[in-house]
Amino acid sequence: MTISTLAVVGSGTMGHGIGQLAAMQGIAVRVFDVDDAAFGRAKDSVKGSLDRFVRKGTVSQDESEDIVNRIVWTTDLGVALDGADAVIEAVPEVLELKQKVFTDLDARTDPNVLLATNTSQLSITSIASAAKNPERVTGMHFFNPPVVMKLVEVIRGTLTTEDMLNRTVDLAHQLGKETIVCQRDTPGFITTRAIMALRLECIRIFEEGIATMEDLDKAMRLAFNHPMGQFELNDYNGLDIALQGSRNLREAYGERFAPPPSLVARVAAGQLGRKTGSGWYDYSDSK
Ligand code: 3HC
Repeated sequence: MTISTLAVVGSGTMGHGIGQLAAMQGIAVRVFDVDDAAFGRAKDSVKGSLDRFVRKGTVSQDESEDIVNRIVWTTDLGVALDGADAVIEAVPEVLELKQKVFTDLDARTDPNVLLATNTSQLSITSIASAAKNPERVTGMHFFNPPVVMKLVEVIRGTLTTEDMLNRTVDLAHQLGKETIVCQRDTPGFITTRAIMALRLECIRIFEEGIATMEDLDKAMRLAFNHPMGQFELNDYNGLDIALQGSRNLREAYGERFAPPPSLVARVAAGQLGRKTGSGWYDYSDSK
């Protein structure tokens, strides 16, 4: 089933990135948020990203304007959901918040509409439990920045039907992405569990005084060809997200995922990464 109209709930980093991605594939997009103050930053970011594509010549100026015009920004959930063939939710990673959103989405859309949640770590089954039709809820884990990263991790909730899982994979392909499927709804799925093991080990090596974070990042870039080291990447995605992930994974898998003290301390101090001007590194001088 080809999606022609997509509703995205949440206009933060992932929400507006997913909206841009869909609009770039010719899909009509409605991005919902509770407060239109968030739209300013989201629109600037979409514009900045499209300008990069225009400068590279992969998108023309006219196409860029069409893409922008394909996105409707609204604080009215009814407007966002009207005629949508699929909904992708991308609100903050708080279970109770996502559950509340899914109670609303389920009540306000036809049961045939696909409902996907963008989460890196929360249980799809728990989120879906807030819906009367939990079988249509799936996980769609995008990577930041969604317009650049090539993968979507699709997660099967305990009650997700085969049809909805297949439609989720098809939607990711329609968005131009490769997919992997996490067949069992387990904490951290595939990718968050794997990357957190690496990140926490890098932080421990730093805490043990064995290497500086600069050298650990250099090692990841030059020894393994990772585009960013784990400290740089954590600053890019947010230390608060990593701390929450570490705690969730510790609960599921034990002490090997326990949060290192230096991560806990930085989050307590409000040093959450690029978004707050400092995290592992200091960004106060950069734009
Ligand atoms: N919009 C459009 N194009 C963009 C872009 C954006 N927002 N960001 C980067 N690009 C393009 C650049 O134009 C460039 O294209 P080119 O190679 O064709 O010229 C390419 O991406 C690389 O960009 P740069 O050379 O300018 O280098 P950057 O430092 O800007 O690259 C990066 C940024 C693409 C983010 C790269 O550093 C990278 O891949 N980092 C790793 C990102 C990653 O691991 N993301 C996953 C994080 S985990 C996650 O998201 C899960 C979540 O649940 C927490």
